[in-house]
Amino acid sequence: MPEEKPLEFVVMVGSLRRGSFNAAVARALPALAPDGVAITPLPSVGEFPLYNADVQEKGFPLIVTEVGEAIRKSNGVIIVTPEYNYSIPGVLKNAIDWLSRLPNQPFKGKPVALQSASPGLYGGVRAQLHLRQCFVFLDARAFTRPEVIIPQVNAKIDPKTGELTDLATRGFIADQLKAFAAFARR
Ligand code: FNR
Repeated sequence: MPEEKPLEFVVMVGSLRRGSFNAAVARALPALAPDGVAITPLPSVGEFPLYNADVQEKGFPLIVTEVGEAIRKSNGVIIVTPEYNYSIPGVLKNAIDWLSRLPNQPFKGKPVALQSASPGLYGGVRAQLHLRQCFVFLDARAFTRPEVIIPQVNAKIDPKTGELTDLATRGFIADQLKAFAAFARR
């Protein structure tokens, strides 16, 4: 059988919180990826200034062009985010808004997988639905299934080490990454 093409995915996290559960999930991803798939974090969305078209007119901030280029060079983007008020956290939406204004819009045709985690029972799924809406407009290739929705995440992460310890969750994340890799190779 011919060797499969190696893939490089980048990860964007929708929380700035030091003890973020979603950041803990994102840190777990490289170890759960199938062979031949590298996963690296993008800079924090907290580094993006607030979107302002007047600032854009004077030139894109360096962080925006750098993250845009990292996304273009990647084989896919994984977004790991909490849900705020049944929707996308402002810091994440702000980063997506900046990136969406770049020439050669980086999400166009790009495979994008979504993951969300919450201490609540719905696992942040409503943020995923609103993200999907953005990626329709941005013409991304939004991956559908299997989904990664992590409810009661506070009980699934070791508070001392910040490690994602729940085996079932690790299992379904690994399943998604495998399917997302196959999707990105198509
Ligand atoms: C929340 N939280 C929350 N949780 C949820 O399941 N649905 C929601 O709509 C909201 N809304 C919401 C709004 C705001 C402004 C905050 C600050 C929080 C709770 C949220 O899931 C919880 O704080 C998570 O721990 C945030 O994710 P990180 O920072 O741990 O990754």
